[in-house]
Amino acid sequence: MKQYKFSDNFLFGSSTSGPQSEGFYNKANKNIWDYWFEISKEKFHNQVGPEYTSNFFRDYKDDIKLIKETGHNVFRTSIQWSRIVKDFNTLELDETAVEFYNNVIDELIKNDIEPIICLYHFDMPLKLQEIGGFENREVVELYARYAAKMFEIYGDKVHKWFTFNEPIVVAEGGYLYKFHYPEVVSFKRAAQVVYNMNLASAKAVKAFKESGKKGDIGIILNLTPSYPRDENNKEDLKASHICDLIFNRSFLDPAVKGEFPADLIDFVNENNLTPICEEGDKDILRENTISLLGINYYQPRRVKARESKFESDALMPENFFEPYEMPNRLMNPYRGWEIYYKGIYDIAKNIQENYSNIKWLITENGMGVENEERFIKNGIVEDDYRIEFVSEHLKWLHKGIEEGSNCIGYLMWTPIDCWSWLNAYKNRYGFIRFDLESGKKTIKKSGYWFKELVKNKGFEG
Ligand code: BG6
Repeated sequence: MKQYKFSDNFLFGSSTSGPQSEGFYNKANKNIWDYWFEISKEKFHNQVGPEYTSNFFRDYKDDIKLIKETGHNVFRTSIQWSRIVKDFNTLELDETAVEFYNNVIDELIKNDIEPIICLYHFDMPLKLQEIGGFENREVVELYARYAAKMFEIYGDKVHKWFTFNEPIVVAEGGYLYKFHYPEVVSFKRAAQVVYNMNLASAKAVKAFKESGKKGDIGIILNLTPSYPRDENNKEDLKASHICDLIFNRSFLDPAVKGEFPADLIDFVNENNLTPICEEGDKDILRENTISLLGINYYQPRRVKARESKFESDALMPENFFEPYEMPNRLMNPYRGWEIYYKGIYDIAKNIQENYSNIKWLITENGMGVENEERFIKNGIVEDDYRIEFVSEHLKWLHKGIEEGSNCIGYLMWTPIDCWSWLNAYKNRYGFIRFDLESGKKTIKKSGYWFKELVKNKGFEG
């Protein structure tokens, strides 16, 4: 048995997002999820949409009590652009929403829980999607103005901000693989979205610096470390390098280093994917890098060189690699994602060695499990698998920190079972169970375990 101790000021908590926890409650505007559910209910698991969430808008005080009872010293959520802004052009705000987020922040602080706020979590306001969403430069400007407004009104109380959650997923889901609205399939349009979101993030960082508010600002990236099938096979290595460029470094490099990787620029140019750029963009990216990096880690990406031609009408990332199923890999069968504990250490070392050891934290790590009611004993979900999942990741993270990686916290996905996009309530991730029928919220075994972990600043394992 070994002691895994973390520093006294290490952040332990969890993350959710506005659209996945709040519920609709007369929002000023719809976002693309509200709309997509309206027109395509059948796409959503059991036809459960975003208005049926765990009701954070109504119950935030009780929810924060439960979050406190599970030991958190930090909690991350997102502001819904579509809730807080009434008119995107004049930036007129919705007063009920301003008050709601203000109350949430105050309630957290009152409970000694640091609020971390993200400004965008897959939730493009419908009106802005109608003019092209992040394909449109005008939306980039509107986003930067919205961000500046948030710093102005909440910047005295919130000291850790994030511009975007998993921006690459916006491009993947909405413009390549059709699991987000607007269900477009176009590598070129996806590249434009990636480019414009990088720019929007840098402009928000600029606004934060100009606001003069204290604290850090960053971006949250879902890093999927790329592993080739065979380290000694040149073609496999090439495939894994391309994946790393597309899925990780397309945001990581501009955010931390202020520029796109040269290999990515070559790849984009060679494949006729070059986005429309404007003069001055390079300076904006270079001058507005982040001070804190959020990393969501769920799974690695294992790849090999293509063995057969990829059949598709349009050019896709898969033209350049094939997924590789490593024998004996450990799987989360419900979500279909590989569990690879050491990946978190590889990320820690990559950031330390290649990204100037920037200050970072795990903003999400988690395990979605179906039919968790199977594990209820005496009214409590006995989720030992989740305890094992967290502790095994923490062991590797601890090693990375011991070796000097500048990680300041670990946040799980998620405090209370939440609505998960197309999967709705299929897979449960929370420390706290949400009973869809009765609306009751009950701490799971992992929630009690987490409380002890935070109290002891570590665990034995
Ligand atoms: C992350 C997102 O990708 O993973 C969350 O930031 C999401 O919004 C979480 O819910 C779990 O993934 P999923 O698809 O199972 O909900």
